[in-house]
Amino acid sequence: MLPFKLLFHLCLFNFAESCLKIRYPGPPKCECPSLLLNWENFKEYDVTGVVRDGESHISSFPLLVLEDENCTVSMYCSGDQELVVFDTDKTHEFLNYPADGMCDPYTQKWLIGDNEGTLITVNRLYGICWKLLNQQPPVTQVPVTPEPACSNCELADFEKQDMHGINFGYLWPYIYTEDGCISMDMICERTDDLECRDVEIYAENYDGNFPIATYKNATFASVRLVCDSRGFRLHYNSIMEIGMLKCMFTDCR
Ligand SMILES: *[C@@H]1O[C@H](CO)[C@@H](O)[C@H](O)[C@H]1NC(C)=O
Ligand SMILES: *[C@@H]1O[C@H](CO)[C@@H](O)[C@H](O)[C@H]1NC(C)=O
Repeated sequence: MLPFKLLFHLCLFNFAESCLKIRYPGPPKCECPSLLLNWENFKEYDVTGVVRDGESHISSFPLLVLEDENCTVSMYCSGDQELVVFDTDKTHEFLNYPADGMCDPYTQKWLIGDNEGTLITVNRLYGICWKLLNQQPPVTQVPVTPEPACSNCELADFEKQDMHGINFGYLWPYIYTEDGCISMDMICERTDDLECRDVEIYAENYDGNFPIATYKNATFASVRLVCDSRGFRLHYNSIMEIGMLKCMFTDCR
């Protein structure tokens, strides 16, 4: 605001002719064109294509203050948005500065102080507030569910025998590996107060029964199973095509 106020007063005293006429009775009305644009309608005025789709974030209308019977103007953006004004032949980037100025009723053109304090002539004050996307904190992307061949995986059954005091099952959700395949953690834990000498998770396939727990303590065991392009069921290392999982505690007290 300040640089313009200064300019305005300089104007009043120095080239009084064009400025002071505003105050004489009977000057033309100030009807310099101004318009607040948004992301839906800015494109038809963006003659130079400076605000690019996809890279730009347009969040709000500029704010517009017209005073002295529309002869003085201030157009600006809120927050850290930057003001861009689309003139008929060029684009003025005001960055974080306001476009302050006055309408010359004889030419119906705006005289605006640019962000370096220089007076420029603007045929129309059509403004938009925008921000480059890469100046924003990165947007957290919602992970897109990948559809690789290996994600079509059947989970192994697990034995739901009398599991009193035991919680046995898959730990949801899936873990997606880098190639888009899935991993699942199978856990077996005591929900009562018993502690056991051993706990084991067994995987059954066509070749037999295999202990596969990779982490164990007195109340808990777990293993990470993988589904990838090598099979249509979960596997653990070389134990492929697991059809059934079991959990077994021994010597609990
Ligand atoms: C100022 O401009 C507004 C919007 O164009 C208009 O409605 C209003 O009548 C104008 N005021 C004067 C004093 O011309
Ligand atoms: C066993 O490991 C699980 C999982 O890490 C943990 O929650 C639990 O407290 C551990 N129990 C004992 C007795 O160390």
